[in-house]
Amino acid sequence: MLTVESLKKSYDDTAGRRSRRPGNEGTRVYAVGGVDFEVHDGELFTLLGPSGCGKTTTLRSVAGLERPTEGRVTLGGRVLFDAEQGINMRANRRGLGMVFQSYAIWPHMTVFKNVSFPLEVLPRTKRPGRREIEERVEQVLDVIELGAYASRPATKLSGGQQQRLALGRALVTRPELMLLDEPLSNLDAKLRETMRFELKRLQRELNLTAIYVTHDQSEALVMSNRIAVMNQGRIEQIGKPREIYTKPATRFVAEFIGTSNFMEAKVVSVDGREVRVDTAHGPLVAGEVDKAPAVGDTVMISIRPECVDLSPERRGNVPNEWSGQVLTRAFLGDVVDHIVGVGDLEIRNRSNPNLSIPPGTEVHFSVAPDKVTLVPVD
Ligand SMILES: Nc1ncnc2c1ncn2[C@@H]1O[C@H](COP(=O)(O)OP(=O)(O)OP(=O)(O)O)[C@@H](O)[C@H]1O
Ligand SMILES: [Mg+2]
Repeated sequence: MLTVESLKKSYDDTAGRRSRRPGNEGTRVYAVGGVDFEVHDGELFTLLGPSGCGKTTTLRSVAGLERPTEGRVTLGGRVLFDAEQGINMRANRRGLGMVFQSYAIWPHMTVFKNVSFPLEVLPRTKRPGRREIEERVEQVLDVIELGAYASRPATKLSGGQQQRLALGRALVTRPELMLLDEPLSNLDAKLRETMRFELKRLQRELNLTAIYVTHDQSEALVMSNRIAVMNQGRIEQIGKPREIYTKPATRFVAEFIGTSNFMEAKVVSVDGREVRVDTAHGPLVAGEVDKAPAVGDTVMISIRPECVDLSPERRGNVPNEWSGQVLTRAFLGDVVDHIVGVGDLEIRNRSNPNLSIPPGTEVHFSVAPDKVTLVPVD
């Protein structure tokens, strides 16, 4: 298990400054402003967040390529870093496998050799036999779909193939912890999707423990056992993909993970996990609320487009039924989106493509109470 505690990394914001006046230490800019998380054995744990939120800095700190300003990192009982005790184990002694945003393959070696080399240079006691090395390399080449290129010089590969090779090279040693920083970002959309599943399958089959960094929410949802959503150097929420999606803890998480309908509301009554609210456009009832607010609180309501149940007729016997007018509709292939106007509010609905209601039509829609999520106002 990897444990990261109170990790901070700051940089001196003195760029471009000629001199520092005494007493002016300059502003500290926190790339990572105090993060805590654990990665369990056999788990693929994802750091997800927008560009510049501190994902790479966090990963490089675990790797030992960055010296954190504060905090502690331990892996399987070994202390990799401890600011207070002044421990900072060298990167090459941490026993990690890494694939970074800017990957590098060994240009003077063949594809096969690129993958076998990390095994060949292991100390004699840890080095597998020649046959096993061959088997493991072939297995990895199979997974990264480079089997047919085994004897080709690594430089004569496309960018995407080189990235897969970088991945294969890190996988082959089966490290205690894999660090993957946007390893699929150079691949075209179709291959990226295949690779997600392949990578996930391999991670599961080999029982690899991995930290995966991405800014792509669908990649994170598909691949991860758990996700930490980061924003401005901090973790906003840690949870399973389904939890993060259905129970976002903050507005940032709800907005970053997919699309959502938001509206402000005032709490009218609380009955166990059932909360009734008033919005500017009508009342709503939310079921299965985990952290009940107090009556009178202002909260943010989040409703996913696929939870908006659109119907040409009023049903009358369902909770949270509102009426409006279709403003636009967009066919997206596997789904169709309708934007419904309710006064000045626009509600997005996502349905299967059999439903198609022309703009201008009066419609009714409802939302099951357990699909009405309350997020704290920040
Ligand atoms: N060496 C450095 N000196 C000063 N600031 C830095 C340095 N490295 C990173 N930063 C800043 O720290 C913040 C976090 O950077 P980081 O590379 O961790 O982001 P990221 O989440 O990996 O983003 P991306 O998705 O674009 O890769 C950014 O604001 C960045 O500008
Ligand atoms: Mg990065």
